[in-house]
Amino acid sequence: MRVLGIETSCDETGVAIYDSQLGLLANQLHSQARLHDAYGGVVPELASRDHVRRITPLLAAAMDEAGLQRGDIDGVGYTAGPGLIGALLVGASFGRSLGYAWRVPAVAVHHMEAHLLAVNLEEDPPDYPFLALLVSGGHTQLLQVRAAGDYTLLGESLDDAAGEAFDKTAKLLGLGYPGGPQVSALAQRGRAGRYRLPRPMTDRPGLDFSFSGLKTAVALVVKDLADDDEQARADVACAFVDAVVDTLTIKCARAIRQTGITRLVAAGGVSANRQLREKLTAMAADSGGRIFYPRPEFCTDNGAMIAYTGYVKLSAGASQPLAFAAYPRWPL
Ligand code: KG4
Ligand code: ZN
Repeated sequence: MRVLGIETSCDETGVAIYDSQLGLLANQLHSQARLHDAYGGVVPELASRDHVRRITPLLAAAMDEAGLQRGDIDGVGYTAGPGLIGALLVGASFGRSLGYAWRVPAVAVHHMEAHLLAVNLEEDPPDYPFLALLVSGGHTQLLQVRAAGDYTLLGESLDDAAGEAFDKTAKLLGLGYPGGPQVSALAQRGRAGRYRLPRPMTDRPGLDFSFSGLKTAVALVVKDLADDDEQARADVACAFVDAVVDTLTIKCARAIRQTGITRLVAAGGVSANRQLREKLTAMAADSGGRIFYPRPEFCTDNGAMIAYTGYVKLSAGASQPLAFAAYPRWPL
């Protein structure tokens, strides 16, 4: 089965084709990072308009890359949420219409489920059951995964997502958007231990997270820095990354202890972070477990994970009517 996947939930337009025999045949992506950088964050209306501009050329490029014609596609998966409503509607209406025009089924895909299942695009995916840490710009969740489609939420952020904390800290440090990669690059020039930031909610039981206090703690430190003190800014970035990475790692170790499940998947944009990957890998080794990641370009938003998740749903017999909807909020 060959499935076309369409991603437009935020600031990346992704179109990819997954073949259940051959794997990924095409993976086209356009990032709007430069478009939004000037505003310090995603401007929803600009995002929607840019998806409209990019999606048809990206489809043509994906079909070209795979060497396929329209009759070669067996189904379409499109991100229906969660995300920005206008952005989602572009991909949802485009995907639904393609299914109609090509006379193939089209299914709504949950963006976070796709992040989670992206690990199955790698050579050596984990057996079920496993634990999943989903860390993106909008969500921070720990899940128990019994099978594709069978998820139990173990914990989640009560306020800001981990990626959001990265983006807000980037702003406080005068860096551009998206903040994650820039904060972690700056952090590598920082000296560990010069500033100490809190590890929120690690001193009480449970698997929930809270990152808004951390951002406030960063703001308090930054307020007292001299404008030209580059080293101090790097030191703050270093303290921030340490605090986020420690907090996520402590909760993952706790989830492994509580469930007895030793396979852990980390996915979503923040899981591309090198410091987080190193720390989680070391923690998993210490607790006799094993950690699995999608490759970094499949951690951040992409069409490949949507094509793959569309395939999982369609091969399980999912079928949906011609009516479609998009969901800004959509529990997994
Ligand atoms: O999964 P994603 O691409 O989009 C959402 O579904 O939200 O995640 C984007 C988030 C942004 O907050 C971005 O700053 C963060 O992931 N991010 C990173 C890194 N790359 C992206 N955070 C830390 N380190 C990175 N290398
Ligand atoms: Zn995402």
